[in-house]
Amino acid sequence: MDSRGFVSLVFLLFALSSSLPQVFAEGQSSTEVPFKVWTPFSIALENLQKQINYTFKNIGLLGRAMTHASFSEENNKALSVLGASVIETSVALQALIKNVDILAKDLNLRISDASKVEGSCNADGTRLGLQKIVRVSHKTNVTAPAVVCGAFRAIFGAVAVDTGSSDEAGGIYEKVHSGIGRAVTM
Ligand SMILES: *[C@@H]1O[C@H](CO)[C@@H](O)[C@H](O)[C@H]1NC(C)=O
Ligand SMILES: *[C@@H]1O[C@H](CO)[C@@H](O)[C@H](O)[C@H]1NC(C)=O
Repeated sequence: MDSRGFVSLVFLLFALSSSLPQVFAEGQSSTEVPFKVWTPFSIALENLQKQINYTFKNIGLLGRAMTHASFSEENNKALSVLGASVIETSVALQALIKNVDILAKDLNLRISDASKVEGSCNADGTRLGLQKIVRVSHKTNVTAPAVVCGAFRAIFGAVAVDTGSSDEAGGIYEKVHSGIGRAVTM
């Protein structure tokens, strides 16, 4: 046979040998789903999508939002920066839509109430149960407000990147914040 025939044969053998272990693995474990692997983390991400009523085109972005810097270099730090900006813009916009005469100092207060760690950011994130989802190193306290708040902000950074629109992300924030927040301080 010529070299093409030989290459085909090698391909065939390779395909056979690489598929055999899968066949055996499937025989051993009936819970294994081909192509999509369900882990506690991926299940948590699916549930979180339902909680925030937004389905990601790229679920990897939500996974990254739920990854603290102590866990991986592919973490939520940058998404969290964008998310903070989304939240602040959204809060400022809503406040000005309601009252265009709002004093600048009152507006700044609203903004910092929503975005600072001691404000609603940590409370909203905790209510979503982010402390049970975020991946951290074993040395990091996952219930620490800075960790929960960072992950909460990162959700909206992730939505903004996923949609290519910080307005849409702001809309999701408004719903999550008012839907799950108790008395909103207004
Ligand atoms: C969830 O989002 C969909 C559209 O994306 C909307 O039609 C629906 O009303 C939303 N549900 C809630 C509870 O906000
Ligand atoms: C983790 O952080 C929470 C909230 O700040 C605190 O109450 C708890 O004591 C901390 N746990 C540890 C082990 O440091």
